[in-house]
Amino acid sequence: MVAVADIAYVVYDHPDLDEAERFYRDFGLVTAARRPDELLMRGADGQPYCYVARKADRPRAVAIGMRVNSREDLERAAREEGVEMEPIDCLGGGWRVRLASPMGVDFELVHGCRPLEPLPMRDPLVLNHASNKARRGQWQRAVTEPAHVLRLGHVALVSSDFKAHGQWLQQRLGMMPSDILYDGTPDNALGGFFHCTGGDDWVDHHTIALFPAPVCGIHHASFEVQDIDAQFHGNKFLLAQGRKPLWGVGRHILGSQVFDYWFDPQGNVVEHFTDGDLVRPGKAPDYHQVADDSLAQWGPPISVQAFIERRPPPGAA
Ligand SMILES: [Fe+2]
Repeated sequence: MVAVADIAYVVYDHPDLDEAERFYRDFGLVTAARRPDELLMRGADGQPYCYVARKADRPRAVAIGMRVNSREDLERAAREEGVEMEPIDCLGGGWRVRLASPMGVDFELVHGCRPLEPLPMRDPLVLNHASNKARRGQWQRAVTEPAHVLRLGHVALVSSDFKAHGQWLQQRLGMMPSDILYDGTPDNALGGFFHCTGGDDWVDHHTIALFPAPVCGIHHASFEVQDIDAQFHGNKFLLAQGRKPLWGVGRHILGSQVFDYWFDPQGNVVEHFTDGDLVRPGKAPDYHQVADDSLAQWGPPISVQAFIERRPPPGAA
């Protein structure tokens, strides 16, 4: 079995690539390459792209790209899946193995994509905490602009069969649950947050999440920004552009991220996050009763059902 190292990109079909490009620039991504039928957008890290928009008649979430550590891992995955490795014909090149999943979206294992020069990103703001004032004689003057994205951090899926789909993530991608949600008793697991085990010594608390729902597919894709001020300025900027918010700004409980969710022009949900938890790969999962107050430590009130169904709470613009 191959253990994925990290998430690489998401692929969506869009009827209007110009419209998609305008939104995702407002969201903080940068155009990396554009062809008549394909738009590649990147963050400030060295990965060639993290968001792929394909021209198509109907909008649809298509695939999630996951990085593996070596060409040998990719060859082994191809053997185990009984499929061919394919060259990737776009910026950065590399090789890919496609996995059909039961979760309404394909997974693509990738390796060998050539990195690009990282883009400039402002340094994290130095904060003067009550008990630790590190900023002396300097002023806080972050500006309102798109919340520059560093990287894609995770994708949350809705899943009609958590047991089967959680096992699929473990058996096919080598992922492990950091936290599991249950209703009533822990053996009635409904959802969970999975981390990568093929990556570094410390990895994101979750790279794939599964939320319970009657259908399968992508719930949201989440992109990391520098700090909380970037997030609030990004929120102000997106509102000023007339973009539609779903939920935020707030701080989650499981994963601890400061979050802010938005609808793109096709109704796909994307998230800005910062200050997420890290775990050791292989950490044993913790179990939590699912409840409305399990969603956030602070932020606008919303129910689990409304969040999963992507219904903005009252008062969202
Ligand atoms: Fe998220």
